[in-house]
Amino acid sequence: MDDGKDKVVVCTGSGRPGGLGEAILQRFAEDGYRVVVSDIDGSEDANRSHLSAEADRTRVAQTLAATTGEEVPVITCDVRDPASVTALFGQVVDRFGRLDVLVNNAGIGFVMKHSREVTPTEWQLVLDVTLSGVFHCSQAAAGIMEKQGWGGRIINIASQAAKSGFPHMAPYCAAKHGVIGLTRTAAIDYGASGITVNAVCPNHVTTGLGSAQNAYFSKFFGISEAEYLEGMRERIPLKRIGLGSDTASLCAFLASAEASFITGEAINVSGGEEMH
Ligand SMILES: NC(=O)c1ccc[n+]([C@@H]2O[C@H](COP(=O)([O-])OP(=O)(O)OC[C@H]3O[C@@H](n4cnc5c(N)ncnc54)[C@H](O)[C@@H]3O)[C@@H](O)[C@H]2O)c1
Repeated sequence: MDDGKDKVVVCTGSGRPGGLGEAILQRFAEDGYRVVVSDIDGSEDANRSHLSAEADRTRVAQTLAATTGEEVPVITCDVRDPASVTALFGQVVDRFGRLDVLVNNAGIGFVMKHSREVTPTEWQLVLDVTLSGVFHCSQAAAGIMEKQGWGGRIINIASQAAKSGFPHMAPYCAAKHGVIGLTRTAAIDYGASGITVNAVCPNHVTTGLGSAQNAYFSKFFGISEAEYLEGMRERIPLKRIGLGSDTASLCAFLASAEASFITGEAINVSGGEEMH
């Protein structure tokens, strides 16, 4: 698929090397799109070990620039904050004069504990980033796409946790299930403007977030990380663990002309582990 020529794609939460956001933008860069890295500046945050730092964002942008052959902009944005989101898309339009694809990828998966121990602050944080952030960014991006008049694509990175429950993941599962609801409603609301809205539901990928989950759940089940990953590989019908490029391939398809009649869907990328 290489119908990206001159098109512009923004991916939130794409400023961590090895993350799904980087893999998604890498694929779009290979397909000829102009790509925009966006992420929170997590350097002052109490949770900074799980968030993008300036050096991370620069590294991701440099890797992508090696493919695009031109400078890749990095625009910091906290998806929880509507003013920050408005500023992000304002800068994109100032620079490129258009917006074709939004990938809502920012998410928080590091609050892992039994439901009875989740604090109101933790609950709110996960919901604010992982669910409300998708709403704020989609609203801002769709507003631009509607004015442009040629439609657009919104792709929401949900999760297997958008379809099934998992132990010790209450806020994350609730937020991701909510992302599917948002996807379906946005697909209806923006359909007449030629904007498709779909969700992508990967199972485990060993990113920064994925590694934190491996460490937590192997301890939770009382096994080594290697045993935990082996068990995962065994139960996946296709007998391998997913890669960022698997998710990126589906994003590329959903953004392409081939997918122009697909909207409101929540598609698994799980090697068959999740089938509904
Ligand atoms: N890795 C997996 O196993 C997996 C599986 C299914 C879905 N996902 C989803 O994929 C997406 C990417 O996750 P990842 O695994 O690449 O992890 P990651 O930690 O590399 O990416 C998450 C990104 O979100 C950013 N972020 C956090 N708070 C933010 C905020 N307020 N504003 C803007 N950005 C913010 C982080 O800085 C980080 O760069 C997430 O939505 C995650 O839930 C991941």
